Formats: sequence, structure tokens, C-alpha cells
Amino acid sequence: MCGIVAVTGYRQALPILVKGLEKLEYRGYDSAGVAVIDSNNNLICHRSEGKLKKLKNKLNKKTINGSLGIGHTRWATHGKPVLKNAHPHFDSTKQVAVVQNGIIENYLELKTKLELDGIVFNSETDTEVIPHLIQKELHNLGTLNLENSGSTLLIAVRNVISDLEGAYAIAVIWSGSPDSLIVARKQAPLIIGLGEGEFVCASDTPAITNITNTILPMEDEEMALLTPLGIEIYNSENERQYRNPISLKLSEQIIDKKQFKHYMLKEIYDQPQIAKNWIKQFLGNDLSSFTSINYSFDIGFLENIEQIQILACGTSRHAALIGSYLLEQYAGIPTTVFYASEFRYSPPPLSPNILTIGVTQSGETADTLAALNMEIKRRQSSGKESYKPNLIAITNRLDSSISRLIPNVIDISAGIEIGVAATKTFFGQLLSFYGLAITFAQLRKSKTSEEINNMISNLIKIPSLLEDLIISHNEIAEELAHNFSNIKDVIFLGRGINYPIALEGALKLKEISYIHAAGYPAGEMKHGPIALLEKKVPVISIATPGNVFEKVISNAQEAKARDSYLVGIAPECEGTEIFDYLIPLPLTDEWMYPLLTVVPMQLLSYHIAAHRGLDVDQPRNLAKSVTVE
Ligand code: F6R
Repeated sequence: MCGIVAVTGYRQALPILVKGLEKLEYRGYDSAGVAVIDSNNNLICHRSEGKLKKLKNKLNKKTINGSLGIGHTRWATHGKPVLKNAHPHFDSTKQVAVVQNGIIENYLELKTKLELDGIVFNSETDTEVIPHLIQKELHNLGTLNLENSGSTLLIAVRNVISDLEGAYAIAVIWSGSPDSLIVARKQAPLIIGLGEGEFVCASDTPAITNITNTILPMEDEEMALLTPLGIEIYNSENERQYRNPISLKLSEQIIDKKQFKHYMLKEIYDQPQIAKNWIKQFLGNDLSSFTSINYSFDIGFLENIEQIQILACGTSRHAALIGSYLLEQYAGIPTTVFYASEFRYSPPPLSPNILTIGVTQSGETADTLAALNMEIKRRQSSGKESYKPNLIAITNRLDSSISRLIPNVIDISAGIEIGVAATKTFFGQLLSFYGLAITFAQLRKSKTSEEINNMISNLIKIPSLLEDLIISHNEIAEELAHNFSNIKDVIFLGRGINYPIALEGALKLKEISYIHAAGYPAGEMKHGPIALLEKKVPVISIATPGNVFEKVISNAQEAKARDSYLVGIAPECEGTEIFDYLIPLPLTDEWMYPLLTVVPMQLLSYHIAAHRGLDVDQPRNLAKSVTVE
């Protein structure tokens, strides 16, 4: 977690850093800070607890004359979100400043050694060991050779990194080398942007696009020396690396809230367009002659697959649960979904011809990456051909770690999601699973071409159904949010293909409005959760026509008998008069419903949180990509 931005060039660094941090605040907002080497070669630093606006207020009217600087926005891991733990951190002489993302696992051991040498620490962070260690190295290297001060700093940082354990990205500046910036990464993202006469480095592309659209993504375990004159990149063997820069896609460049009050609402409204893009990209332009889903990789390796396992966290895991329903019930292939954080330490015994799918919108979730890495290694070391890793990644970030780890990537192309609560990326992940279900149904011949064409023609109708649905449900959700202004607990019920939508509805509500919510398979309610029901606990029930419709209605009756206020997400049809409040759905094919039922869930949590005056896009304690375990 956390956002890093760093620059070296000819312009004033401070405004570039602040602008970059504005774009990275979704990665963490517990504190923010900047450090710049000024024209007198002094290291000047400003930090603030809380959101970036506090730092901006502090910086108001301040100028720092200097074109080399680093900035940071923090999501607290080690040490509380207070000023003394805000980055950048320094050595005792205040000559070296460091910002860091990730975790230094062996920091306590390193800290103890430094303390024995008389170093006094000013923070509770794992980060602070780094500047102290760099200063020690600089001292050992002899810092008087200032002609090559950039290389000296590079060597010092390299020596320190070799002692660090964990997953991290860092940016370092030193007043002894007033135009050199050192950056390094290990299992945490860093991208270098190539401007004209200036270079910028950041955790994510939005912080770079106001300077350049030409980037060099850094590979794992690389470090780089950036000066206004050029870049040197080195791998972990200290070998110089050369690679061509790439241009950012347009969708990675535009981050615009448009007329919406919050990014989350805008991103909910983006979903019909995402469906249109997906249809074009994966089904093709000429739908009358559809033959197969278009992938950017050869799907030959899927022919022998007998089982699927999916690894994911949070909302991505909910998408995976719907994926597993489609893969099993539609395509007939056994599929299991795992919490990535659990899989890593208790994987099932190896079984042959299995496809492993990693799902992560950010492509950087540490638990998901670690689980995938572990699975790849144990399969490779098994030595058996049938156990070899078969892998697919579903992500929104082609420039992310998962895309480098896994050769077969399904790019959901949803455009960067800024709202911390995932909405449009969940929708994009769902569409990817519809595509995979169609592919496996074809490979296993579990559906006739007529049935597949039927699925395709229903998918094609989704964008226009969604456009209408979002407009009408937005009004309804706003109205309902007033009725729910004092609620403390909410139960979400769904069954079959909609059960994971109940889980997602509960997660969204918890995340952004801090209201306790739980999602259950509707049939499970009577086995315990029913004890929670009373007048003050609304029940939101998804009831879509299909094989469990009557069952869900009966389960809703059970809640009504306990005085709960019943909200139905259902078409206006026989049975749904039981609901105290109906959020109406259009009639469509049962397979399609998760693509629609998720919308009122998203809008309801959005409006409840907005009605309470909460910071919808940056809910407390959260961050957009969880790059720590
Ligand atoms: C929920 C949410 C989180 C993420 C989870 C996984 O709104 O944003 O639950 O879904 O942290 O993130 P990714 O998909 O980036 O792996």
C-alpha cells in the first residue's frame, strides 16, 4: 500500500510531487509528506497527519527551490497514523530521505543493531531503518567523491537493499547528490515516466500522466539511478538493463470525475460502456458469425483442463464465486474458489490438469500474488507433467505484477478505478468469467451452439438494460438512503447465482458507510442468522426468476414474520408483493442477473454513505491496492 512519487529534472519539484500525490491518494490517506533538496543542497521536508489536503494547507504559500524530491501518501502498517510515522523518514544527520511502500520484514533485527550503534529512532515505522543504514553505507564508502555522488548513492542503496527482507518499493534522495534519485522495487510496483529533461517515478501511472505518457515499468528486484541527464536501471545481479519505453493506453491516461460528486458514482455509471467495450473486444465486431471468445493468448492449453481453482481477495473473490457458478453450472467444469490469503498456507493437495486463475483488479494484491507464486513453485517442483502450472490472470492493470507473473492475461479494460470500493472492476471481472464459461462450454461441448448463441445474444442486451437500470435505480437508492439513515445492521440474502451478489452488497455497505452488514445464502438464514432479525434490521433480498425464485421468496417470508423491513431486488411479478420496498429489475435470462443485481447494491451503499456525509471515495482504514500480507 502507500503511494510514492519522486522527480528529478529542471522544474520545481514541489508542485509536481503534490500533483502526483493527489493522484495517488487512493492508495492510502493516513498521512502525507514531501522532501526536496533545495538550491543550497539542504534537505527540506514537510509532513502532515491525515489526508493530503492537510499537507497542502501546510505547504500553502511555501516555496522550496529545488528540482529533486520525493513524496508519499501512507496507509499505515507499522506504527499508528500519526505525524512522527509519516514519510519521508531520515537518517540522524537529515541528509538522506526515504519513502517506502510495502513492509520490511526484518526491520526489528536491523533496528536493534542500529540502536546498539547509538542511532536514535524517531518513528515506529519499519521504513526508518533504511535511511540510517544508507547513511552508514555512505559513511563507509567515503562520501567525498562528489563527482560520482549518484553512483555512490546507488552503491550505498544497493548494499542496504541486500539486507532487507520483505516486499517493498523505495525512493531515496541525499543532499550529497542534489540531482540523483534512487528507486528500487521488490514485489511492489514502481513505474518510471520519461519526460523532457525530467524523470518521474511513481507507484502508479496516474501520478505520471500530467508529465508524460511514455513509461518504463520497472521489473521485480530492479533498482534505478535517475538524474536529469538519464536513467540507469540494474537488475538484482547488478547488470545494467536496457529496454524500450512503452506508451500508456488512453484509458490509463484519463482520470476524470466528470459531473459526478464522487468517483464511485461515476464508476458505477461507467459500467454500460465497459460492457460495450467487452462485447467488442471479446465477442468481436461481427456477432452474427461469432465462433469463439477472443483472447490475447493461445487457449490450446485449456483443452486438457479437468478442474479450475480461483485465487482472489475481497470483491475480486466475489466475482470469482459468480465465475465458479458459471463455470460449474453452465460449462460443467468443477471449480473451487479460495481466499488467496488462506490458500497460501493451506493449499489443497496437488491434483492434475488444473487451471489456476488469479483475479485481482489492481494486479498488486500481495496475498493473491504470494498464493500464485507459491502454487507456481510447488507445481514446477513436482516434476510431473500433469501437475505443471496452467495459469490465467484476470486484471484491470496490464502493467501490474500479476501481468508480469502470468503469461495469459485477460485484461478487463475497465479504465483506472479511483473509488477505493471496487465497482466497475467487479463488473469487468464478471464479464471475463462469462467469457471463460462460454469458452469452457465450447471446449467441453457442455452446451449446444444454440445455447451458446442464446447466451451471447443476452450478453449483447446488457449495455442498454444497464443504462436504464442505473438511471432508475440511482433515484430509488437515493430515496431509500433517507429511510435508512439510522440503521446499524443490514442482512443481504441471495441464492444460487445471486448469492455472491449478496456478499458483495454487504461488503460494499460495510466498506463505505461503516454499517454492519452480512450476506448469506437465503436458505442459510434459518440456521442461525435469523436470530438477528427484528424491526430495526432491514433485509435486502435478491429474488430473480429461475430455479430458486420461490425458495428465496419463502426465505423472505421468514424474515417478514420477524418484523424485518424487507427490500426486494426483483422483477415486478407474482410473489414480489411480499416486499415492503421493491427495487425493480427487468425480466431477462437467469444467467444474466448478477450483471444487473449488483447495480442496486452499489448504488444503495453509495447513497447511504453519501447521505451520511462520509468520504465515499476514500473510506477509513482502506486503500485501493493491498500490497502487504
Ligand atoms: C472492495 C475492495 C477490496 C478488494 C481486495 C482485492 O471494494 O476493493 O475488497 O477487492 O482488496 O483487491 P484486488 O482486486 O486489487 O486484488
